[in-house]
This record gives sequence, structure tokens and C-alpha cells, in this order.
Amino acid sequence: MKRILTGDRTTGNLHLGHYVGSLQNRVKLQDDYDTFILLADIQALTTHFERPELINSSIYDVAIDNLSVGLDPNKVTIFQQSKIPSIAELTIFYSMLVSVNSLRHNPTIKTEAKQYGYDDLSYGFLGYPVSQTADITFCKADLVPVGDDQIPHIEQSRKIARRFNDLYGKGEIIIKEPEILLSENSRLMGLDGNAKMGKSLGNAIYLSDSIEEVNKKVRAAKTDINRIKVSDKGNPDICTVSKYHKVFNEGEYKNICDMCKNASIGCVSCKKILGDKINNLLEPFREKRNYYENHKSEVKEIIISGSEKANKIGNETVKEVKSAMNILI
Ligand code: TRP
Repeated sequence: MKRILTGDRTTGNLHLGHYVGSLQNRVKLQDDYDTFILLADIQALTTHFERPELINSSIYDVAIDNLSVGLDPNKVTIFQQSKIPSIAELTIFYSMLVSVNSLRHNPTIKTEAKQYGYDDLSYGFLGYPVSQTADITFCKADLVPVGDDQIPHIEQSRKIARRFNDLYGKGEIIIKEPEILLSENSRLMGLDGNAKMGKSLGNAIYLSDSIEEVNKKVRAAKTDINRIKVSDKGNPDICTVSKYHKVFNEGEYKNICDMCKNASIGCVSCKKILGDKINNLLEPFREKRNYYENHKSEVKEIIISGSEKANKIGNETVKEVKSAMNILI
């Protein structure tokens, strides 16, 4: 079985954007791939270093988000980044092989720096693609299923692996070059019409939201601002709700757009239909979430045993790396 590795920063609960862009895909892949799910608490520090308590509680939250959507703890390995010292060791070795300029020019780093308001970047934040390379290669992952914002990082990882092998491999592959597995779905826009649904943007529906919270958020979603009265004809092209119908109510999407255009459905009813669709999707997840929320020690055990397994693999990789680099063990 080929191995995949993917993960999330532990900076709060995951939302529908994560589900559409990544989690849904993970659930499908878990039967055919040896799946590793990283709880990226160290990478979380790159942006949330002032909020360690949030990172800490999010380790459980993100693990439960993953389990609630149907990742099966008997099939997948869920583990905590800070419990894997080999990731930190590899990060240091790799850091010699990456130029500061290539990190500065990484488009995702640039976008995130802007989003967080950084002008003078911390060494850790600028370098997180290097540590992400260690996340991926410590377990020799073949594939990394992620959304398109991660493309620059995976390309960086491939370069580092190639460089490492060229320098130290003596014709052998020591570090496997990972491949990106892009999710079919494009990114989900925010409820406010912002291009991205984001935890820090305040425009997200969380997987942990209640029925009422979902309905309330959908009711407040941005629609065609020129449509004031029900009798006004709408323009679905500039309506957030229509974009969501496309994703969560595909079968009726065309019909709903037509009804909007000829004013035979109003925004209130259109939003009601969407809210119901999203709640139908989330309902089975809520049941699983409820179970795990009430069995936190089971979640802890899943993370601890997953981390032990990951550690063994990582220690082997570091041995091979040190041996290739001629570092005496
Ligand atoms: N950078 C990823 C994100 O922001 C999270 C992540 C950390 C990750 N390490 C990873 C994703 C390794 C894939 C592989 O979503």
C-alpha cells in the first residue's frame, strides 16, 4: 500500500472548507492507502505562538473533527507533531538545503503573512515549509492529499528531497520525493463572499456547529446585493449562497439558479434549503462527535498510539539520514 500523509494546524476547530477541500478526500482514500494524519501543533505555533492553550485544546478538537467525518482509527494513524522528535531533527538538516529567498518568494507564505499582518517574518514562520517537508518525509509518504494552496510547499519539499539525495545519496534515494494529490473540489468561499473560508476570517461554518448555528450563519450569508425585494430578479453569479448550492446541493443547483433568475424563489427559502442540506451532511458527523466528546480517553489513546507508531518510523528514517550524511551514530 502506498502511504499518504496530510494534516492540519491545531489552531481551532475545522470547518466546511476543510471538509470540502481535504477531509472528504481523506475518508475516501483511507481504504486504499496507509494513511497518516498529522496534528500539526508545532506548525500551529508559527502563527499562534502567543496562544499555546488554544493549540493545546485544539489537538483534541482537530482529532475529533477528523474522526467525526468518518476517518477510522483502526485504519489510519493519527499523531501529534510535537511528539515526533525526528521531525525536528530532519527540519534542521533540511534547513541547510533551502535558500531564504526561495522561502520569501513562496506565494502561500506571502498570502498568509499578509493575512496575519506580518511584515518582519519570524524565522519559524518563514521556515515552516522546511518543517512541513520533515512532516512528509519522516514517514516516507508517497502522496500528500491537500488543497491547491499547499502546492508551493510540496514543490519545495520535492526540491529538498532531490537536493538531499543528490548530495548524500550516492546514487540511492534516501528521502522519497512526495507527490501532491490535489482534491477535486476547489476551495470553498467564505459566507461573507471572501474568496476563502478561514478560521481567522470569521466567515466559517464549523463541523462542530449545531443545527441552529448553521441555519443562523446561512441566513446571514451574502447574496446578490441588488436583489432587494422578492420580486427582483437575482443574479446567482454574484451570490455566495448559489456557490454553496453547487457544492452541497448539486442536484438542484441549476434549478435553483433558474428560479433565482426569474424571481420564483426568494433568498429566505433558498437559504432554508441550503441550511437543511448542510445540516443533513453534518448530522451523522454530529453523532460520531458526540461519541468521541464523551470518550476523550479513547481519543487520547488514539493519538498516543499513533504517535508511538510514527516515532518508530521516524527514528529509522533519521538513522538512515545520519548514516547517509556520515554523521556518526
Ligand atoms: N500547512 C498545512 C495547512 O495549513 C498543514 C500541514 C502541516 C500539512 N504539515 C503538513 C499538510 C504536511 C500536509 C502535509 O493546512
